[in-house]
Amino acid sequence: MTPIAPPRSPRRQHGALNTELYAWLFMRVSGVFLVLLVLGHLLVNLVLGEGISAIDFAFVAGKWASPFWQVWDLLMLWLAMIHGTNGLRTVINDYAERDQTRFWLKMLLYVASVTTILLGTLVIFSFDPCPAGQPADLLPSFCRAS
Ligand code: HEM
Repeated sequence: MTPIAPPRSPRRQHGALNTELYAWLFMRVSGVFLVLLVLGHLLVNLVLGEGISAIDFAFVAGKWASPFWQVWDLLMLWLAMIHGTNGLRTVINDYAERDQTRFWLKMLLYVASVTTILLGTLVIFSFDPCPAGQPADLLPSFCRAS
């Protein structure tokens, strides 16, 4: 068992930057932003419009035509991924006992997280619902109308 230092022992300093403190703070601050972003997302997608039945390819294409919703979705993606990754990092640190297991679980987590963030960001900014030069029967109907 790891010995726990008595309450009055001086705080251990790991270099000048206390990264665990900033990680702890980040979880609270990102949590507040996530509540606002997710509630706004649900309100606009499900409550203010025609509900779930209105959500299709064209709905997403319409939203991502606006830089405002691109940035909104980007913030949701980045904050949720970094928040979730940091949360799982804590869970791994708490529960994986062997150094090797902890190391490889965290490597797997970081690779999955960075891949998802990069692919998601790429999709948000490169999404083109009507790519030029594609056969008309493969494109959504609203592409033909314009
Ligand atoms: C919707 C708003 C959210 C709020 C307000 C919120 C808030 C929090 C807070 C305050 C903590 C720290 C708990 C602690 O240190 O004891 C936490 C931990 C965590 N969060 Fe979130 N979170 C939200 C969304 C998410 C999302 C979207 C994910 C996943 C992508 C996620 C995954 C986690 C994980 C894995 C932990 C670590 C759990 C643990 O330490 O036991 N959270 N959350």
